Amino acid sequence: MDDQGTTLDRLLAALSGLRGYDDPEAGRLRDLLGLPADGRPETARHKASRLGLWRRLLHDIPLDERSFDDRFGPGGRQGTITALASWCLGYRGWTGRQRAGRSAQAEPLGQAELFGFVTLFLLTLLGLAESEAQRSLSPTGAGAGQGGRALTHDCGGVCGVLVEEVAVAEVIADVYSPEREPAGRRPPVAGGTAAREWRAMQRKLRFHRHGSTSMILRGSTADAVHGTRPEFALKLILYPFTRIATLAQATRGYAETYGTASTGARHLVRVWASFDSWILMDFVEGRTLAELVREEADREPADGRRASPLSLDLDRLRDKGLLLFDALEELQRIAREDPVRGGPKGVHADLTPSNIIVSASDGTFKLVDLGRNYLYTHTVTGTGGAEARYIAPEVRAGETDIARADLYSLGRLLILFGTGQAGAEGVVPDIFYMRATLLARFLEDLVDAAPERRLLLFSPGTDPAHTFARLKDAFLAELEMVQAAEQGESVLRVETGWRAWRELLRPLAGDPGREWRLWRMRRQRSERAEPGRGSFANWLLAWSLLSAAIWAVTNTVVITWILRDLDLSWGNNLVALVQRAAGTPEGLPIVDSWRRDDYRVPDFQANLPARMVGLSYAIAAPKYYQMLFSGLTPLAIGWRAGALTRLAVATEVIMRLMAFVPCLLVLAITLVEPRWWPLNSAIGQILTWLANVFTLAYIHAVIRRSRRLGISTLPAEDDKITGLSAFSQWVPTSLFYCVVVMTIGTALYLQLLQDVYVYASAVTATNLFLFYAIKCGIGGPPIRVAIVRACLAAERVGRFG
Ligand SMILES: Nc1ncnc2c1ncn2[C@@H]1O[C@H](COP(=O)(O)OP(=O)(O)OP(=O)(O)O)[C@@H](O)[C@H]1O
Ligand SMILES: [Mg+2]
Repeated sequence: MDDQGTTLDRLLAALSGLRGYDDPEAGRLRDLLGLPADGRPETARHKASRLGLWRRLLHDIPLDERSFDDRFGPGGRQGTITALASWCLGYRGWTGRQRAGRSAQAEPLGQAELFGFVTLFLLTLLGLAESEAQRSLSPTGAGAGQGGRALTHDCGGVCGVLVEEVAVAEVIADVYSPEREPAGRRPPVAGGTAAREWRAMQRKLRFHRHGSTSMILRGSTADAVHGTRPEFALKLILYPFTRIATLAQATRGYAETYGTASTGARHLVRVWASFDSWILMDFVEGRTLAELVREEADREPADGRRASPLSLDLDRLRDKGLLLFDALEELQRIAREDPVRGGPKGVHADLTPSNIIVSASDGTFKLVDLGRNYLYTHTVTGTGGAEARYIAPEVRAGETDIARADLYSLGRLLILFGTGQAGAEGVVPDIFYMRATLLARFLEDLVDAAPERRLLLFSPGTDPAHTFARLKDAFLAELEMVQAAEQGESVLRVETGWRAWRELLRPLAGDPGREWRLWRMRRQRSERAEPGRGSFANWLLAWSLLSAAIWAVTNTVVITWILRDLDLSWGNNLVALVQRAAGTPEGLPIVDSWRRDDYRVPDFQANLPARMVGLSYAIAAPKYYQMLFSGLTPLAIGWRAGALTRLAVATEVIMRLMAFVPCLLVLAITLVEPRWWPLNSAIGQILTWLANVFTLAYIHAVIRRSRRLGISTLPAEDDKITGLSAFSQWVPTSLFYCVVVMTIGTALYLQLLQDVYVYASAVTATNLFLFYAIKCGIGGPPIRVAIVRACLAAERVGRFG
């Protein structure tokens, strides 16, 4: 045999001429591959050198299609795949016919080996093609291989069928064997555990799926343990990839590093042994988290409403989140108990939905594929595929310190559980800012791009290392709080389209109740409260209640005064009692005495403009406050941020003024002097404009500071911050409206203009439709996102003093 002369070029030339199974071409190929001619038995030395040749040939296959085709001609790889697939599939039928024809006669020697090798060669090419397709998936695109299906070929019909052939399993066992020397020369402990486990494997395999540098097969051991044959998963590194030394090294050390046989781990897949080119482990029955989430997203929900980026499922977030925390806790525990095992410092480093298998038997999460993925060290080229966004930036950048990488992945996975979608790279989706600020705050603290900026708020105090057990408690506490605030609702939505219009019927959008429930919940667990948060909670609750009370009083007063103007019955028993006690059967004591001399009630015609405008402000102004500012405070920045703290105080003052001053202005024109309405409208508009100016200035200042400090939770480009550009437009619009109201209002007050009704109707319509319905009602939620984002970022900025 002249195996030194056998190169990949010669092999491919021979493969391209392969048609039949027992013809001269097949014979030539057998020769080329060092297979013994008919009848001649093979010595151990001969077999070892033949396997050496086969490994060299497989090793030599170019990794990507371009280099393959450059070397072997256009369309070379795909052409070879097509030809070999039909030859290999045809072989099964041919041997069947042969056996039937020859009955007792043995198969020609070397026939099965030839088939086995050609199939392994084909599987390797298919694996490379699949790997390439997975690696070039855009990070924002759909997940790889939907439901484990291959992207490039009919995997079940080719790989699934061929791997089950015993001849293929035999060749895989030989080529991938850790025992490389002929039996006589083998050192006594050759391969150790790896060799022992390899020998124990039954030569009957099934194909499971393709990995990004591997293929995963399954099978069972030859010997039964306690009456059953343990099922294993065999991850075979595609042979050409084994020439990458770091990859081979890490694969060899996998069992040593991540083996958990003795620790009784429930969440880490038990690794039996590993060698340069394979990892042998328990087969975990179940679907990957990636598949599960996709199936759930495709399933029509009970209420017929599909998951959207604007809905947040708190129950799913809790259930899956807890399973994930359990797995991470275990990983940390194993590393603590045995620093050699469980991965360096208990870090998974490649925590993505396809590396988590949801066990079919008990629903727990099993982590597979531990350790850094080679895509990110650029050992293997590619974009990292659709799952790159779950991986911490420091891992992708190939940095050595990745102790906090799993925090990032945890954050991204929690986002996936909450929304059912992976979400845009690096940011927390808007729905969290709109409906679950506390969770947004928690998630921001996990997904900051800079590892040292993670756990700024939820840090474990003096202990530099985080523990997932403590983090889980924090997560549950925040989640419970959000759920309590929403009265136990499990799916939070931001309505769009016609449903959003329905929300307009709730002028305060349930905010005071929400703040109240939050406050009660905080008080219940005050012993666990973080310093500084409780005081803001009291402060915000007080303002929310005050604004709600003022809203109720103002609206009641204006409506009552309209009824009085219309001479309709407006009293009730209480009013009657007060009237009787004060001896004023027609009006009200004290309040009526505030009326200026020229203000008559009832006088429908004269008072109508003031009533219309008053009512419209009494409705629109509280909406503005509740939608934009309620429950938020710029003071989150803390007291040590210099100019930014001063700006925060000014913004806080104007925000809180907006909680009651507009209503006071309405009360003034209703109770004291209706002729003031143009002036009060102008004052209200000036205040609104100022509130917009200060808030916007504050948002920009926080953005600038957080970018300088390297806090990444505010996106790097302004246009990626939802609501910011829309809010920026509010400043000039409100200035324009303010100037118009001031000019016309002053002219009316001074009686330079006469068209009072026209102007009052215009202001009323603008307040109700433009401000209440369009700007605050429909357009409000995105604007609030920008303000919430700034306030949360401010808290993080504040941690730096
Ligand atoms: N022990 C196992 N039991 C069951 N299925 C497994 C097991 N190990 C891996 N798998 C399945 O095979 C898929 C790919 O395996 P794995 O994650 O190890 O490879 P990969 O992510 O492609 O990475 P690479 O091949 O680059 O190391 C997994 O997503 C999972 O579906
Ligand atoms: Mg994987």
